[in-house]
Amino acid sequence: MNLLMCPVCREQLKLTERTWRCDNQHSYDVAKQGYVNLHVVQHKHSKQPGDTPESVQARRTFLTAGHYAPLQQAVVSKIRQLRIENLLDIGCGEGYYTNAMQAEVMQCVGVDIAKNAVQVAAKLNKLVTWVVGTGAVLPVRDETIDLCTSLFSPIPQAEILRVLKPQAHLLVVTPAAQHLYAMREALFEEVQPHEPEKFVSQLSAEFNLVDEQLIQAPLHLNQEDLKALIAMTPYAYKAKPEKRLALEQQAQFEVNAAFQIYVFQKR
Ligand SMILES: C[S@@+](CC[C@H](N)C(=O)[O-])C[C@H]1O[C@@H](n2cnc3c(N)ncnc32)[C@H](O)[C@@H]1O
Ligand SMILES: [Zn+2]
Repeated sequence: MNLLMCPVCREQLKLTERTWRCDNQHSYDVAKQGYVNLHVVQHKHSKQPGDTPESVQARRTFLTAGHYAPLQQAVVSKIRQLRIENLLDIGCGEGYYTNAMQAEVMQCVGVDIAKNAVQVAAKLNKLVTWVVGTGAVLPVRDETIDLCTSLFSPIPQAEILRVLKPQAHLLVVTPAAQHLYAMREALFEEVQPHEPEKFVSQLSAEFNLVDEQLIQAPLHLNQEDLKALIAMTPYAYKAKPEKRLALEQQAQFEVNAAFQIYVFQKR
């Protein structure tokens, strides 16, 4: 089944050789790294949207060290339980989770607005359809997807509803209240707990919450991993530079990660 949609005319795209084409002769070549750019100029608001190359690299360093493996495994096992065919990962970033999710499904599409992230992701797994695109106009056909995932990424509700099959699922991962609390205390004068429940109320008009799980992971960080963790979060630019520098001097740092997984079902 062809899942991708032409971002110009909204017809389905078909792959021949290394080019995706619609019946109206719009065409999109697969880049040599193995991804396709469906982020057309009509839908673009900035020249280099999404995460910066620095934060993409930092995330790759940190995730490859395995610190968030408990979350990756928990997400994979939720997907296994759902027994689905087509998965769309929105805001796939450099692909750490998408890569692991692919093995559980028939077709897996990873989409992110940051080209540099998708370029890095595409090297991980040739079986994923890696796409540069925007959540504002998901480059995916109506009612073709069994599960949308959004891990720490935007949740474009109307577009998600459009691409999901009836009664299909949406899996959201977001920081739990105490996520990286000690690190935030070191970086900011005042620390507010995260409020994951706000996603449940935001989605409640169109989705039922069918499952939730709190995942906790104690992190024992060396200096390199600590720096990478700071660089891959918004704290990198939100914290005062002197606070950030002081924290980055630490040779070791202990902090708890805590994630909320929500599984919703479209009504
Ligand atoms: C915090 S990162 C999470 C990446 C990945 N899911 C992970 O957990 O490692 C958020 C991602 O959302 C992407 N993003 C932001 N706005 C987007 C949009 N409008 N459409 C698609 N992706 C977007 C960013 O480029 C970034 O890669
Ligand atoms: Zn077209």
